[in-house]
Amino acid sequence: MSAAVTATVSAVCATVAVVITILMIRGCRRWRWKVYKKFMAKISDEVNRRNRELEACAAVNDVVIEIGPVEKFLHEILNEKPMRFSSEQLASCTGDYSTELGSGGFGVVYKGELPNGLPVAVKVLKVSMNKKVQEGFMAEIGTIGRTYHVHLVRLYGFCFDPNTKALVYEYLENGSLEKYLYRDGEGAGEGGRKERLEWRTLHSIAIGTAKGIRYLHEECQQRIVHYDIKPANILLTADFTPKVADFGLARLGERENPHMSSLTGGGRGTPGYAAPELWMALPTTEKCDVYSFGMVLFEILGRRRNYDAQLEDESREWFPKWVWDKYEQGNMESIVSAAAGVGEADREKAETMCKVALWCVQFQPSARPTMSSVVRMLEGEMAIVPPVNPFHYVSGGGSSSSWALSSGTGTGTFTSSSRDTGWDNKVSAASTPRKPTDEMVKGVKSTEPVTT
Ligand SMILES: Nc1ncnc2c1ncn2[C@@H]1O[C@H](COP(=O)(O)OP(=O)(O)OP(=O)(O)O)[C@@H](O)[C@H]1O
Ligand SMILES: [Mg+2]
Repeated sequence: MSAAVTATVSAVCATVAVVITILMIRGCRRWRWKVYKKFMAKISDEVNRRNRELEACAAVNDVVIEIGPVEKFLHEILNEKPMRFSSEQLASCTGDYSTELGSGGFGVVYKGELPNGLPVAVKVLKVSMNKKVQEGFMAEIGTIGRTYHVHLVRLYGFCFDPNTKALVYEYLENGSLEKYLYRDGEGAGEGGRKERLEWRTLHSIAIGTAKGIRYLHEECQQRIVHYDIKPANILLTADFTPKVADFGLARLGERENPHMSSLTGGGRGTPGYAAPELWMALPTTEKCDVYSFGMVLFEILGRRRNYDAQLEDESREWFPKWVWDKYEQGNMESIVSAAAGVGEADREKAETMCKVALWCVQFQPSARPTMSSVVRMLEGEMAIVPPVNPFHYVSGGGSSSSWALSSGTGTGTFTSSSRDTGWDNKVSAASTPRKPTDEMVKGVKSTEPVTT
């Protein structure tokens, strides 16, 4: 009896288990089907969305092709591509190159206007391009054209026709800082227009310029060393916002630079602003821009050319050395009074600018601050360690003959010395540098033959 009951219970249990298993399998199948349907719906939505996007893009391209060059230009600008111009288009937008804005080592700059009324500056390049440089031209244009910052001059396009190589830049109404800086009016250019800028404006021009260079060195995708920071390459908008010009040009080939001594490699830099490592044939880094920026700061501070042979007081001939001498004597008063137009409220800023300039022009690249430190110091966000003598590598301060190497080792090689202040740990490789000359250090135009 009990065996029969047990058998019956077992059979019922088995049946229930089978039924439950069947139900579970069915449930799973239904759930799987649901998930599959959902997944397929998602895929088909995505495919439809992509198709719609592609159709929209094709429609936009059709429109751009149909509606002509102005819109095409704007479209390319929005797509962050420098536009390619033909030589005929350039001749037409510059009125056959009728208005010259100035000229430099790379060629002549003309004023122009695009068909939509946008003013431009067209720099017609006179550089000698070997085949290798020609190949790199497009890549370089791509980099320059994609480098945007509020303190950098924007490249809109270029021309790469067999007979015309040109760069098309945004036009800056107030031209270069050079024409506002010097008392002698040299560099005033364009009708000699020159108004006196307030010290505060100059101070913010210095900070804006430093931010532009900081972007090139530290923030943009591909790090760019300018190699030719100087007032002529700091352009000003209608409201005197500074923008750094001509970045990336150093790699476009050797320029015909009338100011350049044959001493410098690759025709980079301008005497008086170029860092010692540039003209002493030593390895270079972005710190050579820091040096040049320091030289610009001295010129802003003194509102004068750093080298001025017209001055009666010979000790003032080369301003940076004079500033160092006064600073060393603790005579900040003289420096601030030499900085024309500095009011009582701006005294501290002028002193800061002086110390930052002295740090920037240190002989050793590793002793110079980075541009982000320069910005922070100028903005008063970073304490400044008292500067050390930047001119220890030269002795005397007067005539060319008294300028001789006198670095720590007596050979003029870059060495990490007690003067190394540790802004960073990169110390340039030692090498046998060329002898500094007045021409390169101070930017003196010399007729004497250069000895190395
Ligand atoms: N984008 C621009 N907008 C307005 N004026 C400009 C522009 N670019 C250049 N200029 C003017 O043309 C002048 C010559 O510029 P260019 O860059 O050819 O020479 P430079 O800066 O004196 O020397 P370098 O060849 O060493 O850069 C400038 O000083 C400036 O007055
Ligand atoms: Mg220039």
